[in-house]
Amino acid sequence: MGRILIENGTVISPSGRFRADVLIDGERIAALLDPGSRALLGLDPDRVIDATGRYVIPGGVDVHTHMQLPMGPTMSSDTFATGTVAAAWGGVTTIVDFASQQVGERVMDGLEARHAEAAGQCAVDYAFHQTIGGVDDESLASIRQLVEREGISSIKLFMAYPGSYYSDDGQILRAMQVAGELGALTMMHAENGLAIDVLRAQAIARGDTAPVFHGLTRPPELEGEATNRAVQLARVAGDAPLYIVHLSAAHALEEVARARHRGQNVFAETCPQYLWLSLEEHLSRPGVEGAAYVCSTPLRSHHDHHQRDLWTGLRNDDLAVVSTDHCPFCMKDQKDLGSDDFTAIPNGIGGVEHRLELMYQGVVAGEITLERWVETCCTTPARLFGMHPRKGEIVPGADADVVVWDPTSSTTIGLAGKHHMNMDHSAYEGFVVDGKVETVISRGEVVVERDQFVGRVGHGRFVERSLPAVLR
Ligand code: URP
Ligand code: ZN
Ligand code: ZN
Repeated sequence: MGRILIENGTVISPSGRFRADVLIDGERIAALLDPGSRALLGLDPDRVIDATGRYVIPGGVDVHTHMQLPMGPTMSSDTFATGTVAAAWGGVTTIVDFASQQVGERVMDGLEARHAEAAGQCAVDYAFHQTIGGVDDESLASIRQLVEREGISSIKLFMAYPGSYYSDDGQILRAMQVAGELGALTMMHAENGLAIDVLRAQAIARGDTAPVFHGLTRPPELEGEATNRAVQLARVAGDAPLYIVHLSAAHALEEVARARHRGQNVFAETCPQYLWLSLEEHLSRPGVEGAAYVCSTPLRSHHDHHQRDLWTGLRNDDLAVVSTDHCPFCMKDQKDLGSDDFTAIPNGIGGVEHRLELMYQGVVAGEITLERWVETCCTTPARLFGMHPRKGEIVPGADADVVVWDPTSSTTIGLAGKHHMNMDHSAYEGFVVDGKVETVISRGEVVVERDQFVGRVGHGRFVERSLPAVLR
């Protein structure tokens, strides 16, 4: 570490693009300088990175990942070590993962256990949300401690998965009241889990066991209904700030848009898989090939133009954030557990490495601007989860998390191309996208350059988060 000068590049911020040289001193961004002012100022940095023809963007902030997440008889296949190295390869310098609590467990025990799993294991910075799967007096009382003492300012609740993480409406209301009072953000997995369980049981009884029935038994109406219910509960809870995770259905987007139009503090994220993949082309593939695309909320049908609506939502800010919901499983011994029974397939798609690449393709396709790319992948996630301006924007004083992006190059995603996640397949196999992560700097240390990972597991630090910035 020392002083690094990134020269001759174009800095992209949410509010515009401009030519500037970025001076890094130790772990922080020291200054943005007029291009070429090194000689004038008599600067003698330890290292100069030439960014001619390149974009200089903030390190990516992925606020929804699941490293080594237990799921049924198995566990997501990236550890904190392998997953954060893959994140670095993708230009992601901060992840927010989850600590977990279920019925009968103590929140602080779950948090302590998660800290023990991640400490010293991350290649980039990390933080936690707290999943609360057992809303009771004890867990509700813990939320204050999370916010005031643990640097955790967001909780996650589930309207899906009865029998494990599911909360009923009364529990959700109580948790939102407590979180809202403290200024914390309630994240919601919004699907009507009770109705979905009926549809799943009926499908299995009929012999409809292929992976596509995972999607067909989680119809978009049940995502829209749950999203509306979450919005109304947040309103009744005193306009508690609400964040809908992994939004995939146009029906849910409509509910978010309506709430925002009313002025409610409701935000939503979507993920690249919901923009680029579909029920017909991917989830409908037979056997384990289709199982690879099982995630919840599910991939949606092209015919109902969910994907088109999501791009529109990203443009007009009804979708504020793009995360990955990175939850990888291998085909062998994991996804294949359910190739003839979709209910046994572990839910999740891996993608922490490819979010910036896949979303830059949205820039190339004319769906979003360069500024919006940075805003949805870096700045707004940092703001909404209490990490801005330390993370998410290139400004003096911020952590020196910087990506040099080469727009003239391209990236081939997949096992035969770029792939560093601990998975034996890629959901984006064979995708060729414009642009390339060229250099990645995490808190002043170069961690990726010249197609090499040069960082180290253990460099990543836990980020204590402040309250979310929900008002603009
Ligand atoms: O399929 C998914 N999304 N798996 C991860 C768990 C969740 O619900 O976010
Ligand atoms: Zn979820
Ligand atoms: Zn998730």
